[in-house]
Amino acid sequence: MEIKKKENALIEEAIAFAKDFFKGDFSGHDFYHTLRVYRLAMNIAEREECDRLIVALAALLHDVDDYKLVKDQKEPYENARGFLKKHGFDEDTVSGIIHIIEQVSFKGSDSAVPDSIEGMIVQDADRLDAIGAIGIARTFAYGGSHDQPIYDPEISVIENMNGEQYLSHEGTTVNHFHEKLLLLKDMMNTRAARELAENRHKVMEDFLAEFYDEWDGIR
Ligand code: NI
Repeated sequence: MEIKKKENALIEEAIAFAKDFFKGDFSGHDFYHTLRVYRLAMNIAEREECDRLIVALAALLHDVDDYKLVKDQKEPYENARGFLKKHGFDEDTVSGIIHIIEQVSFKGSDSAVPDSIEGMIVQDADRLDAIGAIGIARTFAYGGSHDQPIYDPEISVIENMNGEQYLSHEGTTVNHFHEKLLLLKDMMNTRAARELAENRHKVMEDFLAEFYDEWDGIR
């Protein structure tokens, strides 16, 4: 009981820490993304044998060292590390959580499978937030802020891009669904996430079918 209370207080503090970190950021990789990833991760954790406190903390801290928002860190993952140290975690636990965050946020990590169940859960949660209705909204917000066309029938979808091609290719927001988002359903690590991904995947497929019909003036 006492331990639960302590854990809950700690989670509340991590939520407040993330909220403060993302103050004023609306890139789609914001505080509410973190909060959704946390909730999804706890939802999946219910159904897996795992350390739920580790899952919660890794989810809440997974973006607080985002390179787009922090400049000139003294050491990598300084913010997450600082939070955990301040709250009395030993070095092993701290590096364990940082290792999870590293695996989740590593660029081009799409094929990297985390080596712990807690890491798998947080990666799944982060990927789930990239698909479905939320995924559609985030994708168009991102495309708009990067001056990408919504859609251009003359720009074709490129399949099986490597990391470098992926970063440099000319794309459209609608193509991004085919190049990445529709592939995520089959990349989930846990059964619970695979189940949650089904409906989100269908939402995107339905959206795209409707989009193309409307584009062609069929509907
Ligand atoms: Ni994220």
